[in-house]
Amino acid sequence: RYSRDDDMPETFKDLLSSLPSEEYWVTNSLSLYQGFWFPPWILNCVLTCQNHFQAQPSDVLLVTSPKSGTTWLKAILFALLNRAKYSDSDSQRRHPLLTQNPHDLVPTFELKLYLEQESPDLAALPSPRLFATHMPYSSLPQSVRDSNCKLVYLCRNPKDTFVSMWHFFNKMRPEEKGQIPIQECLDKFCRGVSSFGPYWDHVLGYYKASSEMPEKVLFVMYEQMKVDPHAHVRRLADFLGCPLSEEELRDGTVEGILRMCSFDNLSALEVNKRGKLSTGQESKWYFRRGEVGDWVNYMSAEMGERIDRVMAEKLDGSGLKL
Ligand code: A3P
Repeated sequence: RYSRDDDMPETFKDLLSSLPSEEYWVTNSLSLYQGFWFPPWILNCVLTCQNHFQAQPSDVLLVTSPKSGTTWLKAILFALLNRAKYSDSDSQRRHPLLTQNPHDLVPTFELKLYLEQESPDLAALPSPRLFATHMPYSSLPQSVRDSNCKLVYLCRNPKDTFVSMWHFFNKMRPEEKGQIPIQECLDKFCRGVSSFGPYWDHVLGYYKASSEMPEKVLFVMYEQMKVDPHAHVRRLADFLGCPLSEEELRDGTVEGILRMCSFDNLSALEVNKRGKLSTGQESKWYFRRGEVGDWVNYMSAEMGERIDRVMAEKLDGSGLKL
């Protein structure tokens, strides 16, 4: 809805003009609201979502910092929660992940649902409803925090997240503008200025919530999922209250989910090679390499150490090391 600044309602423009702002690539600017940086029109959607979204106890919400592997976990959660519907080989051939991008199957509050409508009708969706968001913990709608719904937070190491973000922004902007200077992008990132940043405060908000309420918030690391995806799918199923049965563990259900959601499978599908999301982005932008440690190909050791130093300082005393 408010994807251009001049479409915004007057009351929101007033709020916006009172907020600190920084120039940014692709979104033109970011505004600082209650400690986090948002593209202006997305902030408007965050506020709309806060006012309208009513959580149900059976809801599942995937939360990530942008470029942490959202697409992968959206696919896994969708496949896991809907596994009964697609258990035989006939129905597997009709699996929605084969013809739709995970972002269209698992809508993100502020990038789709509340961008398209002020008050989307979500009450009729089948239970458990599966949504995603990049909102920081402190910005979640009150009903999400008050209800017994479950949150899965996916965290990815900051260097790969940063490089993935830099690539994504480069793809989003017109080719003639050239690449975003990575050093300038890094300067902002290390000052906390990135979409939904500071990155460390985003992670810490959910890390603390997960330590205090492990039954409500599950904290998952992308790198650990890569090492042992099987164990993580079981962990997700247990956390979501739909554990895999002995039979499912024997008959290869987990392997099937992981095969379906693998980078190689998803990125080779026609819909993800040539399709567009309903919100207009190219599907293929969401599949680049999907590997751990790819940052070394784009940043010097010195740049990597800079991120390490910032993280060590910001996460000091939290018990979390990234
Ligand atoms: P890279 O840019 O490092 O390749 P998000 O989904 O949060 O936007 O994050 C995108 C990152 O997740 C990209 O990382 C992308 O390649 C990776 N990714 C997408 N699908 C994946 C999958 N099925 N398995 C692992 N990583 C995946």
